[in-house]
This record gives sequence, structure tokens and C-alpha cells, in this order.
Amino acid sequence: MAITELTLTRPDDWHLHLRDDAMLAAVLPDSARRFGRAIVMPNLKPPITTVAEARAYRERILAAVPAGSAFEPLMTLYLTEATTPAHIAEAKASGCVHAVKYYPAGATTNADSGVTDLHRCRAVFEAMQKHGLPLLLHGEVVDPEVDVFDREAVFIDRHLTGLRRDFPGLRMVLEHITTRAGADFVAEAPAYVGATLTPQHLLLNRNAIFSGGLSPHAYCLPVLKRESHRQALLAAATSGDPSFFLGTDSAPHPRHAKESACGCAGIYSAHAAIELYAEAFDSVGRLDRLEAFASFHGADFYGLPRNRDTITLRKQPWRVPEEVDFGGVPGVPMRAGDQVAWWLVD
Ligand code: NCD
Ligand code: ZN
Repeated sequence: MAITELTLTRPDDWHLHLRDDAMLAAVLPDSARRFGRAIVMPNLKPPITTVAEARAYRERILAAVPAGSAFEPLMTLYLTEATTPAHIAEAKASGCVHAVKYYPAGATTNADSGVTDLHRCRAVFEAMQKHGLPLLLHGEVVDPEVDVFDREAVFIDRHLTGLRRDFPGLRMVLEHITTRAGADFVAEAPAYVGATLTPQHLLLNRNAIFSGGLSPHAYCLPVLKRESHRQALLAAATSGDPSFFLGTDSAPHPRHAKESACGCAGIYSAHAAIELYAEAFDSVGRLDRLEAFASFHGADFYGLPRNRDTITLRKQPWRVPEEVDFGGVPGVPMRAGDQVAWWLVD
């Protein structure tokens, strides 16, 4: 019989953009309602590059957590060419910084302070390897000669293979993978090389960007890929391989910043995140593997205890609003105006 109700250990989100100030206050309740913890991305303006900044940002997030929620933000540092091994040692000792995020300079939203040449970070990677602090990779090259749809595969060839060879013990997460190449690389690597998968890359292919006219709300980075890649990602997510875990990459942008001549990258999914993953797993008859993907693999990878409480999902369609409030500005959430098949029971 088809499953219509599902209780799982409370999941965590291993890749989340919460922003700051009014937008933080507006979006955080969506994540806090679903997830126990989240790895919080450091790409603020200016970025979070020191432990002191991470601690202060953590306090601002905690102040915005709704009453009654035990949501815990797990902080990250933004890797720059000024990051030193001493920063890494301090981050590890802090207990509140759980990873360091690599953005290639200019690759995506607020990535201007990113790294231009990975070779400049060798001493830092050495220190991360020694301290067991994971490196989170936005795995795309920014070389304008490389086709935008090939940027992940080229990153793996040009950089990731060498990084694995030179730092064989470095813990890494290839974030928001979008291609078969990404899934294969992680499946073949040791257990301390993981990958996060977003709801949009499991549910949509690149046709979504162009169906019925240009849709800025289906634009994120790395950009959606063709259907064969989506299928490879869905196979990886539902394979039971503990290297693959949930990371929404939910990234709020005001409506006007998306619907613009230069629309920015990022899809907001926090309002329906676990429900959308349930749809994806249901689509291939693998709801039995949702809990491990959403609630176990990431915690195990980061060496954190699994959550102890549960959430319940019911197969009951509901309609996502056309627009949500992002703290005084409207935003357009994933599936706006359309139905989501699973409902989070309170
Ligand atoms: C993210 C954002 O808006 O901060 N956008 C996105 O398209 N994913 C940045 C990122 O993770 O690349
Ligand atoms: Zn992201």
C-alpha cells in the first residue's frame, strides 16, 4: 500500500542561507519549524571570515529563533586568501564553527571575496586536514571560456581531483551537486567526502528556466542541468549511500532582485523543504530512504549526534502562496502558486 503518512527523526539542513536583519527574522521560522540544525552559509556582505564574526552572527540567529524551537545554527567561515592556519585552529577550538566554505571569486551571490587560486590556500587546507575541519566546496570554475553548464564537471577535473590527491585526509563536501560527474566523484571517494543535494536539483531540470518564458525564479547556481543529470542525482540521493545528504541551499532574494535585467541566483525552498524532498523520494518509490538522507547521513558526517525528536509528513496537497514576506520585501518561494504533495503536520 502507498505510504500516506511518514514520521521521521527531525532532519537537519546542511546548507542554508539565512541572511541577516529583517530578512533573517522573516525566513528563519520556516527552517526552524522543519530542521533541528543547519549549516549556515557565511556569504553575508561583508562575509563571515573570523570566529568572532561567526559567534556574533550565531547570536543574531539565535535571537531570531521562534519561541519553543530548539533550532541550532552551525556556523561556517568564508575562505579568503587572507585566511591563515591560525584562523583554522581557532575555528576548530571554538566549538561553534563546523566548516569552512570555498567560493571561487565571483562564482555566485556575494562571492566577490572568494578565492582566485586554490594554490594560495595550501597551508590552510593542511591545517584543516590536521584539525578535521570540513571544506565545503562551491564546485564550479568561473573561467569565462567554460560553458556555464560544464562548470561543475570542469571543476572536478581541474581542481578537485588534485585537491583529493594533495590532501587525501581532508574532509570535504561538494555542495549542491548538479551533475552525474559530481555524484560519481563523491560515490567513489572515501566516506569523509560528502555531497549535499538541493530540492530543486532533485525535482527540476533546466527546462524549468525556460518553460513558458524565462523564469528567474528557477535560476540558481550551480544552474539546473539536463534531465539525465537530475536522474543521476535522484539515484544518488535515494541510494542509501551515507555520502549524500540534505542541503537545501535555500537562498532568499527579494522579488525585484530576481525579476530584473540581471536577476540574481538563488531559490527559496525553506517554506516547504522537507516536503519537497519527500516528493522527490516518493517519485521513485524510496520514501523508506528519506530519513537516513535527511536526518542521519549529515549528522554522522559532521560527527554530531542525530536529533532525538521527530516530524510527521502527510500526503496531502497544499498550495504554496504566490509570494511571501522576506522582511519588508516580497519574495517568490519555490512552487509559488502551485501545489506541494506532502504536508508537514504540526
Ligand atoms: C546562493 C545565494 O543566493 O547566496 N545562491 C544560489 O544560487 N545558490 C549562493 C550560492 O550558494 O551559490
Ligand atoms: Zn548556497
